[in-house]
Amino acid sequence: MRLTILNDNVPSKGLINDWGWSVLAEGKHRFLFDADTRGEVLAHNSKVLGVSLENLDFAVLSHWHYDHYGGFEYIAGLNLRLRLYAPPGGKVRGLKIVEVHSAGKVADGIWTSGAVDGFEQAVGVETPSGLVVIVGCSHPGADRLTKAILEVSDYEKALLVIGGFHYPSQRTLERLAQMAEFIAPAHCSGDSAKAYVKGRYPEKFVEVRTGSVLEV
Ligand SMILES: [Fe+2]
Ligand SMILES: [Fe+2]
Repeated sequence: MRLTILNDNVPSKGLINDWGWSVLAEGKHRFLFDADTRGEVLAHNSKVLGVSLENLDFAVLSHWHYDHYGGFEYIAGLNLRLRLYAPPGGKVRGLKIVEVHSAGKVADGIWTSGAVDGFEQAVGVETPSGLVVIVGCSHPGADRLTKAILEVSDYEKALLVIGGFHYPSQRTLERLAQMAEFIAPAHCSGDSAKAYVKGRYPEKFVEVRTGSVLEV
């Protein structure tokens, strides 16, 4: 599977950047996880990075915060009546919202944590090398979201956990380190969380920024 980071909080030359998060996942299924703040960012960056945002199989929204759903109207324009798996509480013109409540299967080899605290979901994607967990902001805790994914997918450990960890405590990061072979703190994780993982688990740390492409 290939993960293309269309936008992260850390900028890269030649790409538009703001405070937001959006990842294109291309494996057995092609789907967008979160859509940053605005369509311009997705349009520009996908063009520069050479990926198409058309013909998606579905889309996933982690939670209803603007830095994650702002670009979905643009995506709706490219993908007529696309399904958007989202926690309850919002809608996007042109997309078909599939409300996610409890943990379960979204598609073959893809699981949702369910709306943890009724509010935020993460997804797990099966790849030939292991389970990849993608999170948005992790308001309920990146460790809790990851644990929910491991439980529903019946995996003992994740290969990679990637996304925003929302200024996690050291305890949260330690728990994550137990559950994942690789950790990619992004978006709202904060510099100190990145430094902590990098310092304590250099073999696990994966650096990502706007425009990063990870082959899993
Ligand atoms: Fe958020
Ligand atoms: Fe966020």
